[in-house]
Amino acid sequence: MHGALFPRPRAVVAPGAVHVPAWLSEERQRELVEVCRDWARGPVPIRHTVLPSGGVMSVQTVCVGWHWQPYRYTRTAGDVNGARVAEFPDWLAELGRAAVAGAYGAPQESGAYDPASYAPDTALVNFYDGDARMGMHQDKDERSGAPVVSLSIGDRCVFRFGNTTDRGRPYTDVELSSGDLFVFGGPSRFAYHGVPKVYPGTADPATGMSGGRLNITLRETGLR
Ligand code: SIN
Ligand code: MN
Repeated sequence: MHGALFPRPRAVVAPGAVHVPAWLSEERQRELVEVCRDWARGPVPIRHTVLPSGGVMSVQTVCVGWHWQPYRYTRTAGDVNGARVAEFPDWLAELGRAAVAGAYGAPQESGAYDPASYAPDTALVNFYDGDARMGMHQDKDERSGAPVVSLSIGDRCVFRFGNTTDRGRPYTDVELSSGDLFVFGGPSRFAYHGVPKVYPGTADPATGMSGGRLNITLRETGLR
């Protein structure tokens, strides 16, 4: 069961990998859904990424700040319409810093990483409908070891968080619900992760999502 009667606790899934349930307020989720809808329309429209193998990702993606295509970042979306992606807004970097602080605590608590130094410059907005899923992979096209911030809205899913060596075990399956925050940095920054399952129809329309799952990951590209 989920909901206020059964609050789910913050969980350290692996060193540097922290799950904070219900971190986003319902209002914040609605605002994020709206802004993601805008980004999905353009300047670079949301689409299924085509892999070098010719395979097509089941997830639909739109990028902000920098455009990701396998396996690099560019300012313009050469594989879509050639347009420059939307600017990465300051408020989103601010949200990223709050997220890192929310997951790790103040620097004296977190040891190494100071949340105030987090300067994300790209967001990958992923939309999962129907049977969409994401295979196990590492986020390793960034030239920065800063944490990845992941925000989930809409349908619940299984988020599989693995090890830094390969796609297999050991891994931990975490259920991500609407409003949940997951941060992975430090020793977990380059851990394999994926989304093997989304539970259709579990989105609360009050969050602005009538169906499907929205995931926003913030990253520092380390590019200029
Ligand atoms: C990603 O790994 O880029 C997305 C993860 C997610 O959808 O939770
Ligand atoms: Mn990823």
